[in-house]
Amino acid sequence: MGHFTNTAQAEAWNGYEGAQWARSQERWDAVNDGFNQPLLNAAAISETDTVLDIGCGAGRTTRLAARRAGLGRALGLDLSAPMLDKARESALHEGVENVSFVQGDAQVHPLEAEGFDAVISRYGMTFFTDPVAAFANFHRALRPGGRLAFICAAEAEANEWLEALTSLRDILPLGGFGKPGGPGGPGMFSLTDPDHIRGLLTAGGFTDVDTHRVEVQGKWGADAADAAAFLLDSGPGRHLLDQVTPPEQDEAGQALTAALKRHEANGAVWLRSSSWLVTAVRGGAAPR
Ligand SMILES: C[S@@+](CC[C@H](N)C(=O)[O-])C[C@H]1O[C@@H](n2cnc3c(N)ncnc32)[C@H](O)[C@@H]1O
Repeated sequence: MGHFTNTAQAEAWNGYEGAQWARSQERWDAVNDGFNQPLLNAAAISETDTVLDIGCGAGRTTRLAARRAGLGRALGLDLSAPMLDKARESALHEGVENVSFVQGDAQVHPLEAEGFDAVISRYGMTFFTDPVAAFANFHRALRPGGRLAFICAAEAEANEWLEALTSLRDILPLGGFGKPGGPGGPGMFSLTDPDHIRGLLTAGGFTDVDTHRVEVQGKWGADAADAAAFLLDSGPGRHLLDQVTPPEQDEAGQALTAALKRHEANGAVWLRSSSWLVTAVRGGAAPR
C-alpha cells in the first residue's frame, strides 16, 4: 500500500463509498460504459503501449485498455482496497493477463519516470487535494509525446441523475448538494470549468490541452423503482437518506420513483450524464 496524502478520500473509498462501488460495479459500468470508447479512442492506445489508469476503481477501463494494448500492458492505480480486489477478480474472470493493479494515492505514488505511453481515467481525476502535484506526477510518468485522456463531470445541472436527486429537496436535507460549486475542494464536480482544467494541466507541465463535451445515456436500473433504490443507496444518496427518519426515507424513495418514471424506456431507466473528455500531451521536459 502506498502513502496517502488525501486521508478523507482514502477513508471514503475504503469505507462505504468503495464498498458500494465494488458491490454495484456492474451497475456503475452500465451507467458509465458509454464513455469508454470516446476515452480509449482519445488516448489512441496502440498494440504495444503501456497504459496507466488513474482512479481505476474496479478496473473496467484498465481491462479495456489492456485489450487494446495486446502486446503492451495496463496498470490500474487506486486508493480503494475493495475496488482493487474487484478489479483483480474481474481481470482473472475475463482472462485479461496483461493488466495489474496497485493501491496508492495518485498524487504522490512513485511512478516509473517516462514509463507510460498513455494515462487515462474515467471519473478518477477530480478527488485530488493537490491537483497540480497529481498532474505533474502523471507528466513525469509519461514518455515525451505521451497522451493524457480523461473523463470528468461537466456542470452539475447537465446531469439528469442529479436533477432527479435534487427534486427531493423538500424531503431530504440537500444543503449545497448539486448546486454549481465551481472549482473548489476535491469532489465529483471539482473540474467542471474548462479554463480551470487548462490552468491545472498547464501548471502540471502538459501542452495541447483540449476539452470536448461528451453526453451519454446511462442505464440506471430495470425500472424507476429499481433505479431510485440504486440512486439512494449510492454515496451521495445514502448520505442524504441517513439524515432523515424512516418514514421520510420511504417518502424519498416514492418521490424519486415517480420522478424517474418519465425516463423509463425499452425496459430500463436512462439518464443523461454530461462530461468533459479532456486530452493533453506530455510536451517538453518534466517540471521539477
Ligand atoms: C468515481 S470512482 C471511478 C472508478 C472507475 N474509474 C470507474 O469509472 O468505475 C473514483 C475512483 O477514484 C479513486 N480515487 C480518488 N482519489 C484518488 C487518489 N488520490 N489516488 C488514486 N485513486 C483515487 C477512488 O478510490 C475511486 O475508485
